[in-house]
Amino acid sequence: MVKSIEWAGEKVRILDQSRLPFEVVYIDCSDYSMVADAIKTLKIRGAPAIGIAAAMGVALSAQDIKASSFEEFMAALKPLMDTMISTRPTAVNIRWAMDRLKALMLKNRHLGVETLKKMLVYEAKAILEEDITANRAIGSWGAEFIKNGATVLTHCNAGALATGGYGTATAPILVAREQGKEVQVIADETRPVLQGARLTTWELMQTGVPVTLITDNSAGALMKNGRIDLCIVGTDRTARNGDVANKIGTYSVAVLAKENNIPFYVAAPLSSIDFTIPSGEEIPIEQRPAEEVTHICGHPVAPEGVRVINMAFDVTPARYVTAIITEKGVFRPGDLKKVTIEGVNLSELRLKP
Ligand code: MRU
Repeated sequence: MVKSIEWAGEKVRILDQSRLPFEVVYIDCSDYSMVADAIKTLKIRGAPAIGIAAAMGVALSAQDIKASSFEEFMAALKPLMDTMISTRPTAVNIRWAMDRLKALMLKNRHLGVETLKKMLVYEAKAILEEDITANRAIGSWGAEFIKNGATVLTHCNAGALATGGYGTATAPILVAREQGKEVQVIADETRPVLQGARLTTWELMQTGVPVTLITDNSAGALMKNGRIDLCIVGTDRTARNGDVANKIGTYSVAVLAKENNIPFYVAAPLSSIDFTIPSGEEIPIEQRPAEEVTHICGHPVAPEGVRVINMAFDVTPARYVTAIITEKGVFRPGDLKKVTIEGVNLSELRLKP
C-alpha cells in the first residue's frame, strides 16, 4: 500500500501528492520549515497525514535545539509548533498532534532535554502507527454497513494518501472487499485541485478497487438514478455536535444524499474530532489561492483578473450525517460527545447495521 509519509532517519520522507498521478516523487525534508511548506503547498494533505507530518517535522528540528533547561527547550519548540499550526487552519489534527507532543514533554520534564528529544521522535512515529491502527478499526466497523454489490460515492481523497495508511473513508471499502464483498467506488473529481481525480482514482486503481471517476456535478443525477448505495467521506474537523467540516462540496453531496434517501457516512478517527467546540460554526475555513480555481493543473481556464471565491472546506450540519465511523465504533452524530466520557457503555451507543 502507498505510503504518504515516513520517518527516514534524519529526514522526513513525503510522497509529493501535488505531482500525482503523473509522477511518483518523494521529497526528503531536512527540517520543520520544509515540512511546513510541504503541508501548505499540498505536497502532503489530508487531515491525519498533515498531523503526522507536523509531529515529525517538529521532532526532526527539535534534535538541533541547544537548550540547557526544560524551559529553554519548550521556548525553542514553541515557534516550530506555532508554524505547523498556522499552515492549514481547518484540520484539527495538527493542533491535536502538537498538544500531544506538548503534554508528553510536560509529563516527562524531569528526564532532561536529550531524553525528551528522543521521546519526540518516538511519539511522532507512534502517531503514524496509531493512525494506521485506527484506520483498520474504522474499516472493520464501517464494513458492516457495506452490502455485497454496493457502490460507494466518495468526495476528495480520504484514502491511504491522506493518512498514515489505509485511509479513513476508503478503509471500510477495503475491509468489505477483504471479506469477499464486491464493492465499487464512484469518485467525485473534487475541484478545485482534483484530489478525487488525481489521488483517489490513482490509489484505488493501485489497490485493485474498481473505481469510476465523475465530475462533481454528476453526483446528484447518479443518486437520483439509483446508481449510488451509500456515501462515505472523511473529515478535517468534526465538532462535538457532529457537524462535519470536509472538502468543499461535501455539503452538497450530503444534501443530495438525504434528498435521495442514501446513507451519508463520515469516517473520522478520534484525532479529527474537536470535542472543544460545540458546533461547526466554530470551525475556521481555510481560504486558498485564486489560482487553484482559475487554473487546472497549471493551465488557465478563466479570464485573467476574474474575482474568485476559494473556500477549501465546507461544514455539513449533523442532521445530514447518518453516522460517524470511528475506531471505537459507528455512532449517530448526536452521540459523538458521549464517546470519550469515562464509563460510558460504548456497545449500547454503537449503531448496528
Ligand atoms: O485540502 P485537502 O486535500 O487536505 O482536503 C482533504 C479532505 O478534505 C479529506 O477528506 C480530509 O482531510 C479527511 S482525510 C482522511
